[in-house]
Amino acid sequence: MMKVSISYATQGGTSELFAHQLSNELNSMNHLEVSCASIAEFEEQSLVGNTNDLNLFIISTVGGGEPPESMTDFYDWLMDLEAGSLPSIKYSIFGIGNSNYKETYQKASRAVIHKLADLVGCSVAPCMEGDASTADLDIKFSKWTDLIKQCCQQ
Ligand SMILES: Cc1cc2nc3c(=O)[nH]c(=O)nc-3n(C[C@H](O)[C@H](O)[C@H](O)COP(=O)(O)O)c2cc1C
Repeated sequence: MMKVSISYATQGGTSELFAHQLSNELNSMNHLEVSCASIAEFEEQSLVGNTNDLNLFIISTVGGGEPPESMTDFYDWLMDLEAGSLPSIKYSIFGIGNSNYKETYQKASRAVIHKLADLVGCSVAPCMEGDASTADLDIKFSKWTDLIKQCCQQ
């Protein structure tokens, strides 16, 4: 059975809500074992040990360009990793931000996207981002959900 781990980094609850929606959708696909939790509970070693699992991250940017507090440990750990220190894990990321924060739009999610691309290369499903200032967020999230479901069917 394919394992899928969904981790959300939230301050106000938006990414948590989306994470649970995605979890429900994936749970309806019978061959998946889905877990959904705050990124604060993410065990970094599971990225190293379980390269067959799919790791999904839903990351909000808050505080004028900061990662949510719940992501501090994960963020610091990831940013300090050197080339070659992660195996080729399966992952994808959805970033949540608001384009009214022009200078720091999606800053935290983009930092994670770039770091993982540097460390392990391409994501198994395209990383996407949604803008909470418009209906774009729901539309993009449902597109990303479809891409993830396609990826899980293979
Ligand atoms: C105090 C505050 C600061 C924010 N700063 C940024 C920012 O710098 N960049 C960005 O893209 N979005 C920013 N946002 C928008 C959030 O990403 C957006 O509201 C998102 O839906 C919050 O998700 P959450 O409920 O999962 O924490 C900020 C929101 C708040 C309330």
